[in-house]
Amino acid sequence: VEGALADGPLTGKHVLVTSGPTHEPIDPVRYIANRSSGAQGTAIAKALLALGARVTFVTGPAEVPPPQGVDLVAVQTAREMLEAVQAARDVDAGVFAAAVADWRVASASEQKIKKDSSELPVLEFAENPDILATVCASDDRPALVVGFAAETENVIAHATAKRARKGCDWILANDVSPATGIMGGSENAVTLITAQGAEDWPRMGKDEVAARLAQKIAEALG
Ligand code: CTP
Ligand code: CA
Repeated sequence: VEGALADGPLTGKHVLVTSGPTHEPIDPVRYIANRSSGAQGTAIAKALLALGARVTFVTGPAEVPPPQGVDLVAVQTAREMLEAVQAARDVDAGVFAAAVADWRVASASEQKIKKDSSELPVLEFAENPDILATVCASDDRPALVVGFAAETENVIAHATAKRARKGCDWILANDVSPATGIMGGSENAVTLITAQGAEDWPRMGKDEVAARLAQKIAEALG
């Protein structure tokens, strides 16, 4: 039945998942964004639901439709995503799979920028809030916080440093350099980095990555 939660090891637990890209407006018809289909975040939400969790799903404009049965919050920008994440209460675990734009256009134009002037437009950027780091530093930090690190080189070193810098418990690191064919595909090859070290997972479907992560979260939350 739609809306009914499954029974499983995460019954009674509330997990927050961020997913998809954020869109940062340049003007009313243009934006900057990261590449993200939302496939991995959506698969994680489904896997958590299947284990009985209540899932708050905060998503930017993704290609993949959101799963049925989540508490859905659709946002556009990083700042809206932060607000939605901070509005979630009594979260046991957070999984931050969104590809958040690191910068926004400092003063987006209220009107469409026209190309009729002789000058090329120059965009000035401002840094977006780091949602994951903000949550990790907050008073009501979830018991378990999982981040992602999409890297194109020195994957493990960058991801290990990122885990420490952001203060999250686990990081799922992946190599998204074009040669891997990971971006936009249905498979993922990740390394789980925890305080105990790094665990390489074989390349597998995004659904299988999600199922394995959900299982680990269930074990960790007990
Ligand atoms: N993240 C976030 N808010 C941001 C940027 C990133 O919540 N403004 C989260 C992502 O969802 C991911 C993790 O932080 O779980 C790492 O994102 P990533 O882009 O790899 O890290 P950055 O710290 O932004 O570093 P860089 O892009 O320079 O590699
Ligand atoms: Ca980033």
